[in-house]
Amino acid sequence: MFVLGLQGSPRKNGNTDILLSAFMETAGQQGAETDIINVYKQKIEPCIECGVCEKKGICSINDEMNQEIYPLLRRADVVVLASPIFFYNVTAPLKALIDRTQTFWSRKYRLNVEDPRRKYRKGFLLAIGATKGKTLFHGTIATAKYFYDAIGASSLGALTYPKIEERGEIETHPTALSDTKQKALEIVSPLLKRKKILFACNENACRSQMAAAFAHYYAGDTIEAVCGGSRPAESVHPNMVQVMEEMGIDMGFISPQTIDKAIVHVHPDIIVTMGCGEQGCPVIPGARKLDWDIEDPSGKSIEVMRQVRDYILKRVQDLAQSFNQ
Ligand SMILES: Cc1cc2nc3c(=O)[nH]c(=O)nc-3n(C[C@H](O)[C@H](O)[C@H](O)COP(=O)(O)O)c2cc1C
Repeated sequence: MFVLGLQGSPRKNGNTDILLSAFMETAGQQGAETDIINVYKQKIEPCIECGVCEKKGICSINDEMNQEIYPLLRRADVVVLASPIFFYNVTAPLKALIDRTQTFWSRKYRLNVEDPRRKYRKGFLLAIGATKGKTLFHGTIATAKYFYDAIGASSLGALTYPKIEERGEIETHPTALSDTKQKALEIVSPLLKRKKILFACNENACRSQMAAAFAHYYAGDTIEAVCGGSRPAESVHPNMVQVMEEMGIDMGFISPQTIDKAIVHVHPDIIVTMGCGEQGCPVIPGARKLDWDIEDPSGKSIEVMRQVRDYILKRVQDLAQSFNQ
């Protein structure tokens, strides 16, 4: 379970830094993997409105947004946006990051493919300003709402603190820190209770990728899925990407990985094996093993890929349902 924090303040040990750190520390103590991006330290070019993302679903600018932040956003279960108010909105580097998620918006609304985690990803906002006008947080709340929609996250609301100006002043607020820690608990606890499942196959190019994506797409509230292969291929199979796109599911940015890498942050409760080739699938102490005998569609027709996709979908849905009984 991965929580990504976007820290929008230039001030180290400033108010935003303190609140976001409290949120992330609490999430980490509960068992979540966490990462904070300090946006002022990143090189994020502003969107140049070139239109490439609307046609091709990729960003034409190659910088840290492309290399580092897009992959983190795709992997995140929770995205916490944290910013001081600068002229009634988030700070400029954070706004540049948000604008660059137009690429995500384009994939969903122009190319009609959905991130598999879209339905179950959560977004939360922390915002702090010096003044106390009624509209102080309106702009930021609206920006956050549409940012979550672009990246595929449902908003779990916000904690906003007016009348906080000096560096570190938030620590003198009577409830800000305890509210923030409580919120972190509320948000991460249910996600940490999901069943952790490793889907394993030989190349991690087709079967286990489809299974993990279906688990996220249809049952992301009950399953935390990872996938890996005993001999990962260099890239996922194009037919697999195509047949998933036919169902509106975006597999555009995934790469095969080893089973060891898949379980770096997740200790699976269940390992679902689908044929791991000569190496055999690993035995993971404490994990229940389920053997799904599923034909390897690699090197076969696209029609076989579709049949395998539909069969895997059924198996994943049955498995998810078994947890609700
Ligand atoms: C360039 C700039 C613009 C700001 N604009 C606003 C504003 O529009 N409204 C407001 O209430 N505070 C504004 N502030 C004050 C900050 O929001 C406030 O000091 C906040 O506590 C800083 O948080 P930090 O310590 O996390 O950076 C502004 C501060 C700066 C430096």
